[in-house]
Amino acid sequence: MMSRTTTISLAALTMFLLGASASVADERYSPITDSTVSKECGACHMAFQPQMLPKRSWEKMMAGLNDHFGEDASLDKPMTQHITAYLVANAADTSWWGGKFMRGVKDHMVPLRITETPHWVHEHNDEVPARAWANPKVKSKANCLACHPRANRGDYDDD
Ligand code: HEC
Ligand code: HEC
Repeated sequence: MMSRTTTISLAALTMFLLGASASVADERYSPITDSTVSKECGACHMAFQPQMLPKRSWEKMMAGLNDHFGEDASLDKPMTQHITAYLVANAADTSWWGGKFMRGVKDHMVPLRITETPHWVHEHNDEVPARAWANPKVKSKANCLACHPRANRGDYDDD
């Protein structure tokens, strides 16, 4: 049985690790911990971290998987509900950390692309030269892994 002291030191360790990563690396997002989400939403592209879109965006996207950016990505109802719950619970508007992706997103906006959120556009317009987008290995703005090799672990530091 876990003693009370052990519980407290685990909590302290967690706080330490969170604090440490916040100061060392500015852009880390929790990796997806749900294997169904990783598998089903990582089948055609990298599974995007839920912290990058608001709850309402995930709800809308998950309600229209039969026409998902021109593809049929539909799943059965239990799986759709399971994945929706995970995405919503970890969305941009649930934590201060993911909250960066809420910057500039007005109440009436329901972005379905991370690459169209004001924060993403801001980070990339200023910093990414046009020739980087023209690189044939990139193909799409949504191809995060082409430029952020550790993106699937939530790490967007470019060094
Ligand atoms: C059948 C293939 C397929 C599956 C499965 C799939 N997607 Fe996609 N998804 C696409 C395509 C195609 C695009 C458009 C990619 C592009 O523009 O380069 C896309 C784009 C996206 C984008 C927008 C990326 C951007 O531009 O910011 C998000 C968010 C997304 N998918 C989430 C999901 C989620 C959540 C799931 C799991 C429920 C999922 N996808 C499963 C094919 C798929
Ligand atoms: C063509 C290359 C390219 C693609 C594709 C790309 N990025 Fe980036 N991204 C960059 C560069 C360059 C920067 C700015 C340098 C930096 O700060 O790391 C950046 C910055 C970022 C930052 C801020 C990092 C920081 O430390 O301030 C985030 C978060 C991010 N990208 C997420 C994404 C996501 C999510 C995707 C896919 C949907 C994506 N990027 C696709 C090149 C790219």
